[in-house]
Amino acid sequence: MEVIVLPGPDDVARVAADVVADVVRRRPDAVLGVATGSSPVGVYAELARRVTAGDLDLSGVTAFALDEYVGLPDGHPESYAAVVARDVTGPLRLDPARVHVPDGRAADLEAAAEAYERAIADAGGIDVQLLGIGANGHVGFNEPTSSFGSRTRIKTLTARTRADNARFFASPEEVPLHCLTQGLGTILEARRLLLVAQGEAKADAVAAAVEGPLTSMCPGSALQLHPRATVVVDEAAAAGLT
Ligand code: F6R
Repeated sequence: MEVIVLPGPDDVARVAADVVADVVRRRPDAVLGVATGSSPVGVYAELARRVTAGDLDLSGVTAFALDEYVGLPDGHPESYAAVVARDVTGPLRLDPARVHVPDGRAADLEAAAEAYERAIADAGGIDVQLLGIGANGHVGFNEPTSSFGSRTRIKTLTARTRADNARFFASPEEVPLHCLTQGLGTILEARRLLLVAQGEAKADAVAAAVEGPLTSMCPGSALQLHPRATVVVDEAAAAGLT
C-alpha cells in the first residue's frame, strides 16, 4: 500500500486529482468509481477546475457510485443519485447516461444489487475507485463485521454512521436505516484504489485501516489486500500512523 501524507486538504485534493487525471489520460474511456460524502469534495472540485480550464476531458468516462440510501423519496437532495448528479456529473461534465448509482428505490433490492454488479462487470470493471473512510472504518457503506468477500447488497447503517451523516439531513431520524453498497469484494476488484481522508476525526480509522490487523471490524483494512491501493491523507488524518 502506498501512503502519501500531505500538509493539508488542498494538497490531498490535488494529488488525488492527479491520480484520476493520469488514469483518464491513459484511458479516456476509463471506468471511475465515485464516493460521496465530504472526503472527495475537494477532489471533484479540483477535477472540475481542470475540466473547465480545458486541461482534462472526462466526457468519455463511465462512473459507478459506491452506494445509495434505501427508501429516500424520488429526487431527495441527499440521495446519492442527487449528490452525484450535483457534485460529480455536472461539474466534471460526465455523460449522465454513463453515470450509475445503485437503485435504492427498487421494489426488489436484491435484484437491484445483482443488476449493479452486472453493470460494473459489463463495463469491464472499475479502473480507479475513489474512497473515503468512516470514523468507524467503513468503506462504501460496508460497516464493521462486513465480509471481505461481500458483493453489492443491502446493509443496515450503524447508529454511528447515521449520527455522522445526520449533518446532511433536517433531523437525525431522517437518515435512512438501510443502504445498498458495493461489497468489499466488489471494491477489491477495482484495478486501483484511491482512499482520501482529511482531519483528526479520521486519524484512528486511517491508522486501523493502514497499520492495524486485517479485520472485518475495520473494513478499511481490506485495502491491505489490494496490490495497488493508494492512501492520500493530510497530516491530521495521519496522526495515528507510526
Ligand atoms: C460514501 C461512502 C462512505 C464515506 C464515508 C466518509 O459514498 O461510501 O464510505 O466515504 O462515510 O464520509 P465523509 O467523507 O463524509 O466523512
